[in-house]
Amino acid sequence: MPGVFNLSIDEAVKEAEEAVKLGIGGLLLFGLPETKDEDATGAWDDDGIVQRSLRAIKATAPSKELVLIADVCLCEYTSHGHCGIVVEGKDGFEVENDSSLDLLGKTAASLAHAGADIVAPSDMMDGRVGEIRRALDEEGLENTPILSYASKFASAFYGPFREAADSAPQFGDRRSYQMDGANAREAMREIELDLAEGADMILMKPAMPYQDIILAARQRFEIPIGAYQVSGEYSMLQAAFERGWLEPKRAMLESLLGLRRAGSDFIVTYFAKEAAAAL
Ligand code: PBG
Ligand code: ZN
Repeated sequence: MPGVFNLSIDEAVKEAEEAVKLGIGGLLLFGLPETKDEDATGAWDDDGIVQRSLRAIKATAPSKELVLIADVCLCEYTSHGHCGIVVEGKDGFEVENDSSLDLLGKTAASLAHAGADIVAPSDMMDGRVGEIRRALDEEGLENTPILSYASKFASAFYGPFREAADSAPQFGDRRSYQMDGANAREAMREIELDLAEGADMILMKPAMPYQDIILAARQRFEIPIGAYQVSGEYSMLQAAFERGWLEPKRAMLESLLGLRRAGSDFIVTYFAKEAAAAL
């Protein structure tokens, strides 16, 4: 992805300071561990890469102005690239929902202890918001809010992210836990369930191909709603910019304006620095 890099901790600290100068409100952190294993150890390890980065960023004065959001998922940390624990089932390998919940709860608590202001589960296991809320409360982290990717759709637009994070599933796909793009009503039901389990706000993703879902959620739920313009959405615009087919600044801002108009209160985008400078 042009202009997007995997950062070391010292580089991430500098990036955070630059974000503050540009007037960006917050950062969403993802980790790329040195080694991956079946139990996603790097996700819940108190010395994991995101935990260490959170502590480093929180230790610098300007970065205190940023809201630090930590993605909660296992796929960047598992050797097989799935978002949960994989077991042998009757039809071959399958992602086991319930045993994954324990690790997701542990991951969220570890990230919050390390300094995450908000935890953002993106795994789509059933019951994870409730389990994360329980795990946080049990550790005295009652005040850490949960930003849930409540209606995350299975999508081709995550491709560049998976390449960057080396997290493409080694077998099968994510359709057993991510949602079917044809089903708008299921999205509303998933959001209802997550709110009942204790989600404080939701993040809609992908964004541009699903603006009707953002609008439907906006009309239905009185909670903060964010839109996540994902890696493939960013990359296709960048590809057009490189060819000189679209005017970069105008097209970028128009793509973000659409998300705002659809009802999102905040936007997660790889264009954040350019957009903040332009605005
Ligand atoms: C992890 C996760 C993914 C993204 C955000 N969190 C990848 C996936 O589900 O495969 C995608 C982000 C992007 O494409 O920018 N579950
Ligand atoms: Zn995942």
